[in-house]
Amino acid sequence: MVRIRFALADDWDFWHGLDGRLSRELFLRKAAAGECYVAEGDGAPAGLLRWNRFWDEVPFCTLLYIDDAWRGRGLGRALVARWEADMRALGHGMAMTSTQSDEDAQYFWRALDYRDAGGFDIDIPGYAQPTELIMLKDLREAP
Ligand SMILES: CC(C)(COP(=O)(O)OP(=O)(O)OC[C@H]1O[C@@H](n2cnc3c(N)ncnc32)[C@H](O)[C@@H]1OP(=O)(O)O)[C@@H](O)C(=O)NCCC(=O)NCCS
Repeated sequence: MVRIRFALADDWDFWHGLDGRLSRELFLRKAAAGECYVAEGDGAPAGLLRWNRFWDEVPFCTLLYIDDAWRGRGLGRALVARWEADMRALGHGMAMTSTQSDEDAQYFWRALDYRDAGGFDIDIPGYAQPTELIMLKDLREAP
């Protein structure tokens, strides 16, 4: 049984276990703003999605992460579907995300109808990484 809900302050321990990049302060701020979702599997937190706004405007999924034990069971798809539905309800016609070109997540995003829209390379020491792919979806197309 899968359920998607907004993250609550009490989710911090779970959240931090899967997402080591977000400070507690920022998690609390984003959770209060509706920018953090939790996927529950069989009643317990098992996945997360956070987002912000590119150009302060376009919804951009900044992290989607499913607990190992729950991968391949539809939680990622359910999280994105809920986020997209909420973004449509807010009047947004486009959603964005990005993913590293050497990671498998790009196949997941394409399975959910995200289209490749280029990428960028970072060569600044301390920040260098493989090409980051930008992916877009037209939210006005039928979900
Ligand atoms: C990528 C990730 C979020 C996918 O979540 P998931 O719950 O395992 O995916 P789902 O079960 O919802 O799969 C949805 C669809 O994507 C496809 N898919 C998922 N991972 C895939 C992969 N690695 N390669 C190809 N297709 C994939 C599934 O086949 C499925 O298609 P279908 O519904 O047509 O059968 C999850 O594996 C994960 O957390 N990975 C590690 C973190 C990560 O890379 N996050 C994304 C970067 S922000």
